[in-house]
Amino acid sequence: MSQSLIWNRKDLIDIEPLSRPEIETIFRAATAFKQAMEADNKKQPYLEGRTVVNLFLEPSTRTRLAFEVAASRLSADTITVTGEASSLTKGETLRDTARNMEALRADMIVMRHAASGAPNYLSKVVDIPVINAGDGSHAHPTQALLDAFTLLEKLGSLEGKKITILGDILFSRVARSNISCLQKLGAEVTVAGPSTLVPKRFERMGVKVSHRLKEALTDADAVMLLRIQHERQTATHFPSIGEYTSMFGLNKARAAWLKPGAIIMHPGPINRGVEIDSELADSSQSVILRQVTNGIVIRMAVLHLCFCAHHKQTVHLP
Ligand code: CP
Repeated sequence: MSQSLIWNRKDLIDIEPLSRPEIETIFRAATAFKQAMEADNKKQPYLEGRTVVNLFLEPSTRTRLAFEVAASRLSADTITVTGEASSLTKGETLRDTARNMEALRADMIVMRHAASGAPNYLSKVVDIPVINAGDGSHAHPTQALLDAFTLLEKLGSLEGKKITILGDILFSRVARSNISCLQKLGAEVTVAGPSTLVPKRFERMGVKVSHRLKEALTDADAVMLLRIQHERQTATHFPSIGEYTSMFGLNKARAAWLKPGAIIMHPGPINRGVEIDSELADSSQSVILRQVTNGIVIRMAVLHLCFCAHHKQTVHLP
């Protein structure tokens, strides 16, 4: 099937520059891949004979595996390179590493990096498509896309829906990308947590900032929990983990403040008993594993669209 889809980008670095029709194009492709996956679970041929390099220079379970599965389901060969196993440890620059991958005939690079801006830099020094799989506290575009896609499956539309993001907002690339994506789709976003991790300046992004849990959860259609990102913090932002949990951890009593049937989300990895009780993470309200599954088709859509844009090919969908 040939489609007139709105997409002309070879790279996906951030949600910010995307228009709503571009986001909806990704969802349209993801929906087609999901329907095909559920119908017969067969591989799609669109990246046959191509090589996708996953350059993961910061730990990852879900994103790395989902990109590997997505590329494989598009019939690409995949190579995963991690920081410890590369010559980056011998002083080679990121630019030289990436240009060597290009010389080895990689067709696309998916990159996670601890430094904000690294994928954007990489996209300027190689000609092949670069997909951001999370950079520092800057952006995690495919996570935000799979989160919004999951919410749309459950809620139908995000127009006027109240979504609360609760936890370590300050250091979170997931929060920044989600704020941008959810707002473009018409949602009202509240960010909540302790004032040290949720500074008032986030209001400049058009969100409501709340330091009171009950206020942030009351009448929310969905709550997205975030873990404390110790790896990016250089100072202590609250007295202890126990005190964080007692003030801001989501438990059954506090979940009752949400709208009846409200959705509970988490990008993972979960710190059970810290930001969310196990009982809620595993409850029927939780879509945490659905988010992971949707991560496959969102990444298939992004890889396919960026590859087609780079090669000026018509996008075909199942
Ligand atoms: N959600 C997410 O980015 O998880 P990983 O760090 O395991 O990839």
